[in-house]
Amino acid sequence: DEPPARAAVPQAGQDGLVLLRRVGAVDPASLDDYRAAGGYLALRRAFALGPAAIIREVLDAGLVGRGGAAFPTGRKWDATARQPDHPHYLVCNADESEPGTFKDRVVMEGDPFAVIEAMTVAAYATGCRRGFLYLRGEYPRALWLLTNAVERARERNLLGVDILGSGFDFDVEIRRGGGAYICGEETAIFNSIEGYRGEPRSKPPFPVEKGLFGKPTVVNNVETLVNVLPILTGGAAAYAAVGTGGSTGTKLFCLSGTVRRPGIYELPFGATLRELLTLAGGVPEGRRLRAVLLGGAAGSFVRPGELDIPLTFEGTRAAGASLGSGVVLALDDSVDLTGVLLRIAAFFRDESCGQCVPCRVGTVRQEEALHRLARGSGPADVALLRDVGRAMRDASICGLGQTAWNAVESAIDRLGVFADGEKGRAS
Ligand code: NAI
Ligand code: SF4
Repeated sequence: DEPPARAAVPQAGQDGLVLLRRVGAVDPASLDDYRAAGGYLALRRAFALGPAAIIREVLDAGLVGRGGAAFPTGRKWDATARQPDHPHYLVCNADESEPGTFKDRVVMEGDPFAVIEAMTVAAYATGCRRGFLYLRGEYPRALWLLTNAVERARERNLLGVDILGSGFDFDVEIRRGGGAYICGEETAIFNSIEGYRGEPRSKPPFPVEKGLFGKPTVVNNVETLVNVLPILTGGAAAYAAVGTGGSTGTKLFCLSGTVRRPGIYELPFGATLRELLTLAGGVPEGRRLRAVLLGGAAGSFVRPGELDIPLTFEGTRAAGASLGSGVVLALDDSVDLTGVLLRIAAFFRDESCGQCVPCRVGTVRQEEALHRLARGSGPADVALLRDVGRAMRDASICGLGQTAWNAVESAIDRLGVFADGEKGRAS
């Protein structure tokens, strides 16, 4: 049978691609095509190196997580590999749900064997014999192609028992999410796979110690994992030579909003926001850029005067913003900013799992206050938003509640929304 039709994800024709180099260039259903384009060289190199040397390479490459939090991948792998408790599990977090994020989908639909190969390398390095790929339920084409990739890999002994005669056994199970944003939070994924409600657990203990089924677990985002392939084939030094000291390699950016050429862009870390927006054609003719939302609904707005921010984890942090998973949502002067804030607030109110009070109640109060401000209420509601935001940030169990006020705060403080009775519509 055929994979479900591809929904349009516009992509730029770009040079120097690393992670996207096979996307659109090979048949994503063909293992032969994948191998002819360099597939499975990284796994062979991994078997030649052995687990400890692979982890050393990943540490030396400076790879950090691409799901949004930028935690060093090698440290995570090392911590799991050292755990005496067994079995160890690997989870590929493919529940990409941050509004404005669609990079993992492009990788999974365009280069699915790379995801399976990278999972196999990660499992070998960290002593896992079972891996779960937790896939966003709304990605039917990715499901078809990944299922095909797993089956084809099993047929050729690239998954299963004694992979390529290495003595290493590993297999992958695909699990689909049911449409809840919170199930992308790593501990909520564990609950979901184990058959419980998708609610986050308190951390610590971190998954490297107690994760899926209470056992040491490596959780990596799709984009993080596929970075391991060029690290192994090209070496850590070559990988780390691209980007900056704190953010090595390339990054997939998801451009959306009022830009002329929205889509996925792969750039070395360190390019500026201005360069990225220029590649995407800037805002439509006759319009003025009003703001850019970096990092998605959990991220922050930046002003048109801040476009020289380097797109690195450290650079955005220094500018009081965050790169997150790579969302770049451009908004021109035709956009109703209050409407955008109300949409974000409604999203968090809807997606809060309700387990802890600061988030369950705070996301509702935040949305109510924004509605009153949109109707013209005054500074008391801005003060209330700050109080509620602080409580959510300080006292919520997981990242959803902790970041639910980020975008609203930055709109107030950086863009001046609601200042002097402004209701958010740019003139
Ligand atoms: P986090 O900072 O709590 O953890 C990041 C990773 O590092 C986790 O895997 C955690 O287990 C690990 N870790 C942290 N400290 C550790 C330690 N001491 N020892 C061992 N492991 C440790 O962040 P979280 O909540 O996992 O992710 C938040 C990010 O997710 C946000 O930055 C946001 O941008 C992003 N996000 C991405 C989405 C997407 O669709 N890609 C959706 C929603 C949020
Ligand atoms: Fe659930 Fe929100 Fe608490 Fe996270 S912060 S556990 S989403 S109620």
